[in-house]
Amino acid sequence: MAKRKDSKFRWTHRHLLGLRELTRQEIEFILDTARGFEQISTRSVKKIPPLRGRVVVNMFFEDSTRTRNSFTLAANRLSADVIEFTKKTSSVSKGETLLDTAKNLEAMGIDIVVIRHNAGGAPKFLSRNINACVVNAGDGFNEHPTQALLDAYTIRRQRGSLDGLKIGIVGDIAHSRVAGSGIWAMTKLGAEVTLIGPPTLMPAKVEQLPVKVSCKLDDVIEHLDVINMLRIQFERMGRNPFPSVREYSHFFGLTVERMKRAKPDIIVMHPGPINRGLEIESEVADGKNSVILQQVANGLAVRMAVLFLVNQVSVKEDKTKKI
Ligand code: NCD
Repeated sequence: MAKRKDSKFRWTHRHLLGLRELTRQEIEFILDTARGFEQISTRSVKKIPPLRGRVVVNMFFEDSTRTRNSFTLAANRLSADVIEFTKKTSSVSKGETLLDTAKNLEAMGIDIVVIRHNAGGAPKFLSRNINACVVNAGDGFNEHPTQALLDAYTIRRQRGSLDGLKIGIVGDIAHSRVAGSGIWAMTKLGAEVTLIGPPTLMPAKVEQLPVKVSCKLDDVIEHLDVINMLRIQFERMGRNPFPSVREYSHFFGLTVERMKRAKPDIIVMHPGPINRGLEIESEVADGKNSVILQQVANGLAVRMAVLFLVNQVSVKEDKTKKI
């Protein structure tokens, strides 16, 4: 396991709801813990025992490819038993509430709930009403902490540290929980973050965030060390926020042409799913600066770290209660 910088530091959270509330030291501690788990994926036997006998439920009320499979694999690698729960195949489709669903699962003895929900605040609500640990896998437009942690981890693996790096987050910031967590992760770790996109896709009260804002990618691209391209989340919008997809691509798409103006070693990121040709051209998504698949690979180690840490706290607290 990676050597921790401050051996006196203790992780104390039994839930991971967001990054806004975490300190730099806590975020770094998760990333350091993940570093220790990274090499497990390279072993022939990819399993270790810390969550043996513990039950993790993956409650996904929204579609997911990367996040859900990554949490399942992370829990499996830590030897937990995993229950997969989806809205479509559960009694939620018959009208059962989130709380009733969770309480019923809890009655079966679950220890950790990983939840993705279209309502911002759903993970927090659960954490206040059930005993299991709650890990936020994306709630509405609010936060997606493990995505931002794996993004920060990926940058740290490339550059050693985020201190002083200029990071651009481009596109549909208003509807992006990836940006919602990323802003906090990146700035707390010492980066300078610029949100780039049309004014109609900027979040409300953006001036209260610790970021710069630009509505012209061409004005800032040459200064960026990292560029994180977001998907346009049409499913979260009432009406079109820009005249046409073509126009959006013209001003904000990461094209081969635009990349000529960027630093030669700029790190290109995308949380997925990618809309090739809209926010990013295929040649760039698959090009030499892209770390998109590394992000996915690193997600596994980061999610192992999160499950490991929250579980440790809950085991300790449960023991103390019994004494
Ligand atoms: C993101 C999500 O679902 O919030 N994807 C992900 O988790 N990798 C971003 C998106 O859907 O655009």
